[in-house]
Amino acid sequence: MKKIFVTSQYPGESVQRLSEKYDVSVYPKARVPTREEFIDNAKGCSALITTVADIVDKEVIDLCPELEIVSNSAVGYENVDIPYATEKGIFVSNTPDVLTETTADLAWALMFSVARRVVEADAYVREGNFTCWHPSLLLGMNIHNSTLGVYGMGRIGTAVARRAKGFNMRVIYQNRSKNEKAEAETGGQYVDFDTLLSESDYIVITAPLTEDTRGRFGSDEFRKMKPTSIIVNVGRGPIIKERELAEALKEGEIWGAGLDVFENEPKVDSELLLAPNALLAPHIGSASIETRKRMIDMAVESVEIALSGEVPKHLVNPKVLDNR
Ligand code: GLV
Repeated sequence: MKKIFVTSQYPGESVQRLSEKYDVSVYPKARVPTREEFIDNAKGCSALITTVADIVDKEVIDLCPELEIVSNSAVGYENVDIPYATEKGIFVSNTPDVLTETTADLAWALMFSVARRVVEADAYVREGNFTCWHPSLLLGMNIHNSTLGVYGMGRIGTAVARRAKGFNMRVIYQNRSKNEKAEAETGGQYVDFDTLLSESDYIVITAPLTEDTRGRFGSDEFRKMKPTSIIVNVGRGPIIKERELAEALKEGEIWGAGLDVFENEPKVDSELLLAPNALLAPHIGSASIETRKRMIDMAVESVEIALSGEVPKHLVNPKVLDNR
C-alpha cells in the first residue's frame, strides 16, 4: 500500500477518505513537524501533503525515492525545491483560488486594525484606562476616500482592490506587467513603483516572493512614502526588510504597518516587536475554517489524481511532464 504523510491536521473528512485507499499518517501535534520528524515520516512515502512551513529540499527529495507528488496546501510553494522536484519527475501542486478572498479579507482586517488602532483600543479598555471620553483619544487614519496601492495585482491583489470600491478609494497598482482584467474589475490604474510609494495612503503587498520582489521595501522606499501611510503585507515576509521597517516606524517615516508574514518566519525581528503601530499576525491569511477545508480538499484531490497515474490539476511544475 502506498504511503502518504500529511504534516498537519485539518478540518473536514478528505484526509480520512484518503486513508481508505492508502497508508496515511497525519502528524498529530498542534505544530508543524521538526525537520527530523518530517524526514522520518516522509521516508518511503509516495505523496506528501505539506504546508509552507515544511521545507522540501534536495535532501528530503533524495531520501524519498518513491515520491510521486508534493501536494502543498498553500498557494505559495517556495518551500519546495521546484527545479529539483521537476528533474526527479515529482509533481508539485498548490491550492490556488480557494484562499484568494479569505486572504484579501485579512489584508483589509489589517488595514482597518492599524488605521483605527483597534488592538490598542481593546487593550486600553481592558487595562482599565477608559475612565473618561476625550476627543484626542486613539486618533487614527481614514480609509474611505484614500488611495490604495496594491503591490502585486494577481488574484489576491485584485480581490483586495475590488473591496476598495465600497470605500470610494482610488486604486493604483504595481505589477510585473499591466493587468487589464484587474483594471476592468477594480478600476485600478497601473503606475510605476515610485508613484506607488509616493501616492498611496495604504500599500498592500500581495506579491509572491521572487528575485525581483525580495527586499523590495527598505529604508529608501519608506522614505518615499507618505508619513501618514500604512503598509500591509499578506504576501511574503522577505519582500520587506524588517529591521528597516522597524526603524521607519520609529522615525515616523510611515505611520503604521500590518504584517501577516515575516522575513525569517516564525522569527520576528526584535526591533519590529518593539515598533510603534505595528500589528503582527502569525501568517493567518487563509485561516478561516471553510477555506482551510477547501484547501485540504484540493490538496487531497491532487494526491488522488497523481497516485492514480493522472496529472493533477493545480500543477506548479508542468515541465515535470517531460521527465516522467
Ligand atoms: C500562504 O501563505 C499560502 O501561500 O497559501
